[in-house]
Amino acid sequence: MKVQILGSAAGGGFPQWNCNCDNCTGVRNGTLNAKPRTQSSIAVSSNGTDWVLFNASPDIRAQLADFSPMQPGRAKRDTGIGAIVLMDSQIDHTTGLLMLREGCPLDVWCTDMVYQDLTTGFPIFNMLEHWNGGLNRHRIRVDEAVNRFTIECAPGLEFTAVPLISSAPPYSPHRNDPHPGDNIGMLIRDTVTGKSLFYAPGLGKIESHLPQMMAESDCLLVDGTLWREDEMIHAGVGDKLGVHMGHLPQSGENGMIAFLDTLDKPRKVLIHINNTNPILIEDSPERATLAEHGIEVSHDGMSIEL
Ligand code: MLT
Ligand code: MN
Ligand code: ZN
Repeated sequence: MKVQILGSAAGGGFPQWNCNCDNCTGVRNGTLNAKPRTQSSIAVSSNGTDWVLFNASPDIRAQLADFSPMQPGRAKRDTGIGAIVLMDSQIDHTTGLLMLREGCPLDVWCTDMVYQDLTTGFPIFNMLEHWNGGLNRHRIRVDEAVNRFTIECAPGLEFTAVPLISSAPPYSPHRNDPHPGDNIGMLIRDTVTGKSLFYAPGLGKIESHLPQMMAESDCLLVDGTLWREDEMIHAGVGDKLGVHMGHLPQSGENGMIAFLDTLDKPRKVLIHINNTNPILIEDSPERATLAEHGIEVSHDGMSIEL
């Protein structure tokens, strides 16, 4: 299985267009040792030709242009995207669908909760019906007995969805009434190599169904949004804590680093990194701490082969 990191930043990207925090200013004017990053998305393929796109970010045009297998050129109009899987209905993971309108009909996999949001508060499914049949919705289920599925364009890959506690976006009709399926993680297993990836760009809490699944994975590509719980306040750019945003910070007694330390087998990689996070600075003490714990920070253009 080939895994391509198309975008490694959280919502807003890095630098964020209107942000003058130390990180965004430093990367913009070249005084910090940090790489710019586009918004959260990956592509996965079993054969290197047909790709499953995970999330469609507002930066998708640049992301596709930077990854040549997405432009196979087999016909006048063509794409390497065989199907799209949505992990939630947030803006940073869904607005790219609008940019893909010329390629409709497209196969889109999402949970009932995400489908509800995207047909009501942000009715992108309804809107795109006007473009050649729009989005062909396929249902992702999150109850344990039925949460495994396959996708036609990705023979040899097996997908298992798991619900993750998180809030639905502000435009969701159930914003203040969380349901399983608002946000998911995905185990992707290559049935030929036997290797697996666990992908969860929004992971707020290590719920009891996660440790075993994560411990048995070969690679984890998980929530790297925040270094500290009060990071937005600390950076002077917001008032929300990690817990309110559904993102587990790396530092702290019960943080992501402490949890990842309990796992021996998997390669550990962070994704969906917010522009306030000091791990974006490659020579920061926080980045050195991650390295000491064997944790990598993904970047746009990174490839993982499993
Ligand atoms: C999140 O991951 O918390 C959201 O995508 C934030 C946002 O971009 O609005
Ligand atoms: Mn996000
Ligand atoms: Zn910033």
